[in-house]
Amino acid sequence: MTKPHKEVVVSGMRPTGKLHLGHFFGVLKNWRELQKNYICYFFVADWHSLTTEYAQTEVIQKSITDIVIDWLAAGINPDQAVLFVQSQVPEHAELHLLLSMITPLSWLERVPSYKELKQENKIKDLSTYGFLGYPLLQTSDVAIYKAKHIPVGQDQVAHIELAREIIRRFAHLYSTNILLEPRALLTQGAKILGTDGRKMSKSYDNCVYLSDSVETAHKKFMAYITDPQRMRRQDPGNPDVCPIYGFHQLVTPLGQVEEINKGCRSAAIGCVDCKKNLLTHLNASLEEFRDKRKALEKNPKVVYDILKEGSLKASKVAAATLREVRSAMGMEGYASK
Ligand code: TRP
Ligand code: SF4
Repeated sequence: MTKPHKEVVVSGMRPTGKLHLGHFFGVLKNWRELQKNYICYFFVADWHSLTTEYAQTEVIQKSITDIVIDWLAAGINPDQAVLFVQSQVPEHAELHLLLSMITPLSWLERVPSYKELKQENKIKDLSTYGFLGYPLLQTSDVAIYKAKHIPVGQDQVAHIELAREIIRRFAHLYSTNILLEPRALLTQGAKILGTDGRKMSKSYDNCVYLSDSVETAHKKFMAYITDPQRMRRQDPGNPDVCPIYGFHQLVTPLGQVEEINKGCRSAAIGCVDCKKNLLTHLNASLEEFRDKRKALEKNPKVVYDILKEGSLKASKVAAATLREVRSAMGMEGYASK
């Protein structure tokens, strides 16, 4: 396939549960555009989940299939992007090991997400070697495909910065440019708010999941918070602070969105009608997704085959980079003789 850009895009998602509308309108919409224009590798970062879920690994295995079904149903296309599971491409682990030799401990210890998560987690023991190495594993994930652009959220920027520093150190130590310094490609666009008005997130228990039935989604939307200042039907509302309006901006035709904006501010429309109207448009935008999802659920073999093929493709590229890295480090061994 010919792509306008030869540059490589890599992104991973940790399998820690089902995907929700935030993933659909945030991440997956963006991936769908990128796959048309770039050489894309999208993978399930199961080893990254293992750094925190090592004591209960069942959730990881179950989420892998669920997540990839969501990707495919959302239009991530295995003919346009390489889809795989991280642990099926063990080359990532060898690069992680090699890079670990040149990574100063202090660089890992000062990563903000490391400090925060370790303090927050009183239940799990995160004082592990694996968890400290989380961003280094992420560095290997992107370096092994010589990725240039990494579509991630704001919370991942420090990890990409670290990747750049490690790759720069590699270049300096071994006088080579074989590994590319990646850049974070910030996923912009509307923040998707959950039923309680906070950012939609599994940890807040405020999600509408992609696997929710039409009925379940309907119930959740009817219970959604709107403009908290709008107590009675006759009170004017402020769409700018209302999560429902945020969704209208994503799925409702522009002319109607403007009417809703005015109608809300003048109290001409009520929240119940506004939500019902939203559900009509939301269901229309999700119809194709839901149909595809149902079909894939019944036929997981299709998903496994796509992942197997993706791992093979990824492995080939990863192995080639590893050969270059070993050689740059003077570690080819006798096998190449
Ligand atoms: N750390 C990322 C997250 O939590 C997931 C991830 C792992 C990733 N490896 C990656 C993202 C490589 C981009 C590139 O969201
Ligand atoms: Fe939100 Fe619509 Fe109610 Fe306005 S009318 S507060 S946009 S749900």
